[in-house]
Amino acid sequence: MAFKLALLFGVIAFASVYVSATTTTTVTTSVTTVSADDDSEGGLSLSAHDRSVIRKTWEQARRDGDVPPQILFRFIKAHPEYQKMFSKFASVPQNELLTNGNFLAQAYTILAGLNVAIQSLSSQELMASQLNALGGAHKPRGATPIMFEQFGAVLEEVLAEELGSSFNAEAKSAWKNGLTALVAGISKTLKNPQDLADPQTKLSARQVRDVQRSWENIKSGRNAMVSSIMIKLFKETPRIQKYFTKFANVPVGSLSGDAEYNKQVALVADRLDTIVSATGDKLQLLGNINYMRYTHAARSIPRSAWEDFGRLLMESLAASGVSSDDLASWKGTLGVLVNGISPKN
Ligand code: HEM
Repeated sequence: MAFKLALLFGVIAFASVYVSATTTTTVTTSVTTVSADDDSEGGLSLSAHDRSVIRKTWEQARRDGDVPPQILFRFIKAHPEYQKMFSKFASVPQNELLTNGNFLAQAYTILAGLNVAIQSLSSQELMASQLNALGGAHKPRGATPIMFEQFGAVLEEVLAEELGSSFNAEAKSAWKNGLTALVAGISKTLKNPQDLADPQTKLSARQVRDVQRSWENIKSGRNAMVSSIMIKLFKETPRIQKYFTKFANVPVGSLSGDAEYNKQVALVADRLDTIVSATGDKLQLLGNINYMRYTHAARSIPRSAWEDFGRLLMESLAASGVSSDDLASWKGTLGVLVNGISPKN
C-alpha cells in the first residue's frame, strides 16, 4: 500500500492557519475507528441467519454439563500428542482425564472462550478483540492454525451427537461457516501479543514502539526533512502547491526563502511530531486522525496527495538510516494514518 501522509501534514498545517481565520466549524464526532484497507473485517463475516442458528444451538448444547469435558477429551483422544502442551495435566493417563480437576478446569476455560466468541458474533469490534485474546494467548503456547481446525472438527462432532436431530442440515451448515470463519480469524491473530493490531487503531504495540523510537533519532532534523518532501511533492505534482494559497505561485526554486512556506513547513513538521507522539495513546491518535480528516476533506485534498507524502516520507526515513524493521513499522503506521485521514471510499 502506498501512503499519503505527506500532504496530510502539509495540509494540516495549512488547515490550522486558515481554519482559524474563517467561519464556524462543525466537527464530526461519530468516527471512532480508523477504517482499515484490505482486510477490514476484524470480525467474522457470517450471515445473520447463521449467527442466530449458532446461538440457538449453542444455547441448547452448553446446558449439558457433559459437553465441555467431552470437547476437550475427544480432541486429546484424536490427537494425543497435544496433551503434552497442557502442562497441568500433561501426564495424566487418558482414562483419568475426565475426573482430573486440572483437565476439567481447562475444559471450562475453553467453554468460556467459546461463550465469549459466540456472544460477540454480532459485533465486529467485540469479535476482533476476542480473536486477539485467543490468538495472543495461544501463539506463545505453540498452537497452530491446523490445531484449531482439528479442534473445530471435534467440536462439530460433539455438537452433532449432543443435539441429535436438532443438528439438522441448517445447523450443520451454520456451524461449518462459523467454525471456518473462527479458524481463519484465529489464524490471523496467532501472534505474539505485541504484534497484534489494536482493533480500533489497527496499530500493534511493536509498530508504535518502532516508529516512536526511530523518530526520536531524526526528529531534530524534521523541518529540513519535511521541506525536502514538500518540494519533491510540488515538483512531482505541481497542482498540490496550489492548495497553499499563501505560496501557490512562488517558483519551487524560491520556496526555501519564502517565509510563508517555511511557516508551513514548521507547522507540518510539528504536526507530524505530535502525531507520532500520539500513536501510543488510542484516544489521542483517533482524535488527531479525525481532526486531520475533517480539516482536509473540507479542502478536497485528494487521497493521492497523502499517498505521495507517505511515499516520500518513507524515502526520507530510509535515507536517514532508519532500519528496515523500523521502516516496515512506519509503512504500516502511515498506511493506517492515510486510510484514517482519507478513506478509500
Ligand atoms: C476455539 C477453541 C479454543 C478456545 C476457545 C480456547 C481457549 C483457551 C483459553 C481461554 C485459554 C486460557 C488462556 C490464558 O490463560 O491466557 C487457553 C489456554 C490454552 N489453550 Fe486453548 N482454546 C482453544 C483451542 C485450543 C487449541 C486448538 C489448542 C492446541 C492444542 C489449545 C491449547 C491451549 C494451551 C496449551 C493452553 C494453556 C493451558 C495452560 O497451561 O494453562 N487451545 N485456551
